[in-house]
Amino acid sequence: MKILEGKRGLVVGVMNDRSAATGITQSVLKHGGQCLFTHLPGEKNERRVRGALESCGVTDPWLQPMDAGSDEQMDAAFARIAREFGTIDFLVHSIAFADKEWLKEGMFTGTPRQVFTQAMDISAFTYAAMANRAAPLMANGGSMIALSYYGAEKAVPGYNVMGVAKAALEATNRYLAMELGPKNIRCNVISAGPMRTLSAMAVGGFGQILDWVEKKAPLRRNITTDDVGEAAAFLLSPMGNGVTGEVLYVDSGYACMGL
Ligand SMILES: NC(=O)c1ccc[n+]([C@@H]2O[C@H](COP(=O)([O-])OP(=O)(O)OC[C@H]3O[C@@H](n4cnc5c(N)ncnc54)[C@H](O)[C@@H]3O)[C@@H](O)[C@H]2O)c1
Repeated sequence: MKILEGKRGLVVGVMNDRSAATGITQSVLKHGGQCLFTHLPGEKNERRVRGALESCGVTDPWLQPMDAGSDEQMDAAFARIAREFGTIDFLVHSIAFADKEWLKEGMFTGTPRQVFTQAMDISAFTYAAMANRAAPLMANGGSMIALSYYGAEKAVPGYNVMGVAKAALEATNRYLAMELGPKNIRCNVISAGPMRTLSAMAVGGFGQILDWVEKKAPLRRNITTDDVGEAAAFLLSPMGNGVTGEVLYVDSGYACMGL
């Protein structure tokens, strides 16, 4: 039996075939799970997400427009899931946003209020907001994951306000784990190494980060979205049944180094 057989869940964050969420989708499907998806509102975004899903062999996806910055759109997405399926088993939060003008080396101290609060809202608060809507649908227990990066715990040049938002995301995960654990809902974060995705390209000096990790990380390579997908499948499946409130590093070992 496959580890995710009979498990259904919502994956938020597929944008194109390079997205971390696309790698997660591929692994979930490979291990027997079923995925529901959202896309940012707009025909162009929908087309892009459909294209990415086709590359995973998903030709007729369950798809719902949802800007996570809108409570109404989140309510509508989870209400539709409740109506059509009743329950889900997992949630994947694989989204983040910050104005790229402020993701450059030397540009943290002046971060404007609106840029700071938007980064925190979309990249951290929405994890709690989605968990709050997903938990009532997890009557049989469940598993949630969100995606973080090393810049949550160490100052990484160029990562700036996104590092602050990721620190909040990791703290949010611990509080969710504490409150949802008694309902047998597990909450974990994958701290992924750098991957060449659309969002990552917004971070100033990202190419240098990739080169550095390849030279210095114990495994001497950058990770792939497949690596993230396989770790996600473990956490979302009963194989991870005793794990909650954790940060799992999928980073070629970089975070264990004292560089
Ligand atoms: N790429 C990396 O190097 C890396 C490393 C560690 C963690 N991460 C994290 O992985 C996650 C996925 O990013 P990615 O690298 O796959 O990039 P990506 O650009 O492929 O995905 C980002 C996703 O965020 C979504 N998004 C942005 N604003 C949104 C909103 N208001 N409502 C709904 N969705 C919204 C986009 O539609 C997109 O699907 C993010 O949390 C990112 O911080 C990425």
